[in-house]
Amino acid sequence: MRHFLTLNDCNKDELLEMIDLALDLKKALQTTGHQPYLKGKILAMIFEKSSTRTRVSFESGIYQLGGLGIFLSNRDIQLGRGENISDTARVISSMVNMVMMRTAEHSRLEEFAQYSKVPVINGLSDDYHPVQLMADYLTMVECGIYMPHKNPLYPQGGENARIPIVAYIGDGNNMAHSWLNLASILGFELRIASPKGYAPLQKILESAYATANKSGARISVSEDIKEAVRGANVVVTDTWASMGQENEKEERKKAFKGFCVDDALMSLAQKEAIFLHCLPAYRGQEVSESVIDGAQSRVFQEAENRLHAQKGIMLWLARVNGLISH
Ligand code: CP
Ligand code: NVA
Repeated sequence: MRHFLTLNDCNKDELLEMIDLALDLKKALQTTGHQPYLKGKILAMIFEKSSTRTRVSFESGIYQLGGLGIFLSNRDIQLGRGENISDTARVISSMVNMVMMRTAEHSRLEEFAQYSKVPVINGLSDDYHPVQLMADYLTMVECGIYMPHKNPLYPQGGENARIPIVAYIGDGNNMAHSWLNLASILGFELRIASPKGYAPLQKILESAYATANKSGARISVSEDIKEAVRGANVVVTDTWASMGQENEKEERKKAFKGFCVDDALMSLAQKEAIFLHCLPAYRGQEVSESVIDGAQSRVFQEAENRLHAQKGIMLWLARVNGLISH
């Protein structure tokens, strides 16, 4: 059984296949309408944390593919009252064809997948946010930031395409970790700048360095936001206090002072650089209003791409796991 718990569950060619599917599905949606490749299939969506984008994109996505999404909040299901993961996984996976789960400890997802009879997709954990990264990468491709994709809709790609530089400014959190996974698998340059004490987890960094050795990716971690952004093609940031860190908000505001992506910082990047943010954003903290609402921002294209990228992931998983034959 193939799951999608982190980007490391797939190799480069597989991630690019999903992106190509997403590009095709997006194009088809705009021209011929819905594509019922997953007709009659059911996706359970378990949310142990809040969500706007993930819920709406998965529920709309499975519907557009001809299937049904069931929204399961931990406020409503027995999991939220202490039923264990293994029983929950056995029961739910006996009635649906795929599961998406958003949770806190990544080990909860791993345990769910271990007992699940159907493919499991990570819709965010404390450590990773892989479906978001697929939407971010799709946005990079659409913006002509050259990568080794092969979709004929975007012929500027190809194996000899230019290697992009991505600057990630801020917390070494689930987003930073998934950027590390993506960069190290696809082989681009990722410069992370975080305040002291808020760098990505060492074990995730080490695994990314090991993968980068094979792919040719260049990865650096520092506290210097200017050096990170200089000449970058993509500048990305995320909230200073993630879900579950609400009581650290004030302390983090102090620690992250100076880590705002503003016009002065953006001016150090390439002239045609784009700004990305997974959202929700906090204007005046990690990003200035002028940047997130400015000409270089692609955050709403990125948010919409959650829908298309995840349709690509679901279709790919359905095919590779033999849920459908076409
Ligand atoms: N970016 C993201 O995952 O948003 P939600 O928390 O609204 O799902
Ligand atoms: N790092 C953020 C991402 C939200 C989509 C969080 O985990 O809350």
